Amino acid sequence: MKILSIETSCDETAVALIDARLNADGFAFDILGDALFSQIEIHKEYGGVYPMLAKRAHAKNLVPVLCEALEKSGLLLPEEQKISKETKSKIEKILEREEELADGVLRFISQYSRPEVDVIAVTYGPGLEPALWVGIGFARALALAWNLPIMPVNHMEGHIYSAFFGNNPELPSIALLVSGGHTELVLMEKPGEYKLLGETRDDAAGEAFDKIARILGLPYPGGPEISRLAAEARERGLSSGKWSKLPRPMMHSDNLDFSFSGLKTAVLYATRGKELTDKDKMEIAREAEDAIVEVLVAKTLKALESNPVQSVILAGGVASNGRLRLTLREALKETATGLFTPSEGLYTDNASMIGAAAGARALLGDKGIGADDELRSSGRLSLGS
Ligand code: KG4
Ligand code: ZN
Repeated sequence: MKILSIETSCDETAVALIDARLNADGFAFDILGDALFSQIEIHKEYGGVYPMLAKRAHAKNLVPVLCEALEKSGLLLPEEQKISKETKSKIEKILEREEELADGVLRFISQYSRPEVDVIAVTYGPGLEPALWVGIGFARALALAWNLPIMPVNHMEGHIYSAFFGNNPELPSIALLVSGGHTELVLMEKPGEYKLLGETRDDAAGEAFDKIARILGLPYPGGPEISRLAAEARERGLSSGKWSKLPRPMMHSDNLDFSFSGLKTAVLYATRGKELTDKDKMEIAREAEDAIVEVLVAKTLKALESNPVQSVILAGGVASNGRLRLTLREALKETATGLFTPSEGLYTDNASMIGAAAGARALLGDKGIGADDELRSSGRLSLGS
C-alpha cells in the first residue's frame, strides 16, 4: 500500500511517499520519495521555535515540498484537471484561514493528476497547535480533491516507526523517545498498543541540550552543538575540569520519570557572570552530555528490569547523539536485548516515519477517516497511558 504523509508538528515541513507491506516476518517500509524544508534558519534568530512563524512557513512551503516528494517518487504527473465548483469551495472552506495555501493547493490539483496512493497520513499531535492546523488542513484538502481517506498519526508513534525502516524490532519493545518536546519510555506491546512507563516532569532531554547551549552562547538547535563540543573535549582529553560535576536528576529515583530542568539551572548558576573560554565551553558541554546520557541509559535499564522485552528502540532528535547511542548499546549488551535506531536522516522530524506509522495501522485494518470528518489538532496528545 502507498501512503502520502505530511508532518508539520514543529519546525520541519515534510512530505513523503511510503510503500508499506506486511510480510510473514513483519512490516516492510520503503521510502519512495521524501522532501523536507527545515525552518531552523527562521527560528535561529529567536533561539527557539515561534508557533505563528512556524505556521506561516509551513503554509508557504507545503506545496513546493509536496511537489518535490512526488517528483522524487516518480508520481508527479502533469495533466490538466477539471475541478468542480463544489470541490473548490470545500477546499477554500477547509483552508479559509490560509488563503495562499488554498490557492496553491487549487493550482496544484488543477495541474497534476491524482497520484497513485491509497491514503493520506498526517500528524495531528503532539506539537504546536498552529503548526498542526496547517498540516491537517492541507491533508484534508488533498484528501477531498483526490477522494482519499486520511490516517491521523501521533507524532511520537511516528518516531517509534522511524526505527522500522530496514529493521524489524521484535515486540514487545521498550522505546526511549527523546526529542525537543518529549522524553518518554514507552512499552510497545503490539503495533498500536502502547503503555507510557515514564516521562519527563519538566524539560525534555532535547530542551535541556538546547537551553544549556543557549547559556553557553551556542546557536539553536543546541543538541548538535553540545555534542560537537563534547566530542572535541573527549578528543583533547578534557573532562569537567574546574567545573564541579553536574547533577544527574532523578537517576536513582524509584520510578521511570525524568527531570532535566535542574541541570540547566546548575549550568546557569555555575557560569553566571563568568567569561567563558572555548575550553570552558567544551568542558561544560562534555559534562552536560554525560549527565543527560547517563540518566537516559540508567532509566532505560531500569525499565527493562520490570518489563522483560525483546528489543529497545531509541528514537527522536536526541537519538542522533552518538554518545547516547554508543553508551546505550554498550549497556544493553549485558542484557542481551537488541537496540534498534532509525537510519541516518530519520532521527529528527520527518514525514517518512509518519507514513510508516500510518502504513502499519492501515495494514492491520484501520480504515482512517474521511476528508469531511472532523479532525482536530491535539497539541498535548500522548501515546498510551
Ligand atoms: O525529534 P526532533 O527533531 O523534534 C521534536 O519533535 O522535538 O528533536 C529535536 C531535538 C532538539 O532539541 C535538538 O537539539 C535535539 O533534538 N538534537 C540533539 C542532537 N541532534 C538533535 N540532541 C543531542 N545531540 C544531538 N546530536
Ligand atoms: Zn519529533
